[in-house]
Amino acid sequence: MENIDELDMAIGRYFAFALVGRMLEAGLYDALSRGAPKKELAATCNMEPHIFDAALHYTVRYSGLIQLDSYGQVALSDFLKSSDTARFRMLKFLGAYNACVTRPGVSNTETGLLALAYRQLARRAPSQLVSLLAELRPRNVLEIGCGSAPVLRALAVQDTSVSGLAVDNDVNMVALARELVLEQRLSDRITVSVASLLQLAKCPPTAHAPFDTVVLRSVLNGSFAEGTEPVRLLSAIASTYQEAQIVISEYLSQLGTSAGAANGSVQTLSHDLIQVFSGQGLPPANLKDWDAIYSAAGVRRLARRVDRSLAGITQFTDIVVAQPVEVNA
Ligand SMILES: C[S@@+](CC[C@H](N)C(=O)[O-])C[C@H]1O[C@@H](n2cnc3c(N)ncnc32)[C@H](O)[C@@H]1O
Repeated sequence: MENIDELDMAIGRYFAFALVGRMLEAGLYDALSRGAPKKELAATCNMEPHIFDAALHYTVRYSGLIQLDSYGQVALSDFLKSSDTARFRMLKFLGAYNACVTRPGVSNTETGLLALAYRQLARRAPSQLVSLLAELRPRNVLEIGCGSAPVLRALAVQDTSVSGLAVDNDVNMVALARELVLEQRLSDRITVSVASLLQLAKCPPTAHAPFDTVVLRSVLNGSFAEGTEPVRLLSAIASTYQEAQIVISEYLSQLGTSAGAANGSVQTLSHDLIQVFSGQGLPPANLKDWDAIYSAAGVRRLARRVDRSLAGITQFTDIVVAQPVEVNA
């Protein structure tokens, strides 16, 4: 009997998360934030009302993400409504990484849903990072793995002499970044293109070049499944953009560390789990390990800023440059 219950739970969770993903995809996020009648939601989801109803009850029962009132109105749970971070986490983790979480070993993400999650954050400039970067007086910026291009857009809004190129290897992200660049009337200064990090290293773009600043925010953390990959990527970028200051902005993991076990933050540990389930690997848990990556990649760290202001999450920003190769006389 116990096994049947567990199976029931697993199917329920899978169904619940899949439904949340489907609802997000169908653009129901805003409707859910306000609360909407079940019938309306079923129609928007293009689902048979009785199937939608059954799925909804599973979702309410097992995921705790959605609540149903006695009038048949469906809404996001109070805890999701009350916090931007919680909403973003739901979109990102349950939407984009839903397939990975419910089926461990699946390494692809729903990139359309990931772009949707980033849309929710699109207008929120990472202010600490932007003010740190503004101190570096960037002019021509290359933002790699740009997502919605939050850094370049924020710098360009703040300073009209900033221009640059934002690239991502995901077409959904590029579409989102382009849309926001247009919306903010920045398209005369910002170009957005589809390109992978290694493509950029092999064939540097000419638009806006030469770059004085290269931004890699939350990009290297996706390359930790294979031990030497972050070193390979960073060294490729550093040797291509030797004149640029390279800005690396990441978080420290906690999963599997004694600090994480004793006093880990839910945010960091859930991020860590997603990293593992989605096949991205676990980034370092301490700054010394990042320094070891820099030495192996042949870059020198010029500055570091650590930010622990966000509930239990340690984020940091390092400025590195390519080391000149020493020639023995
Ligand atoms: C976690 S998101 C961060 C997005 C953005 N940098 C930000 O700070 O909001 C990682 C982004 O890197 C992109 N990405 C991952 N690997 C890449 C690669 N090899 N080349 C280009 N983009 C990549 C993904 O498509 C995704 O948009």
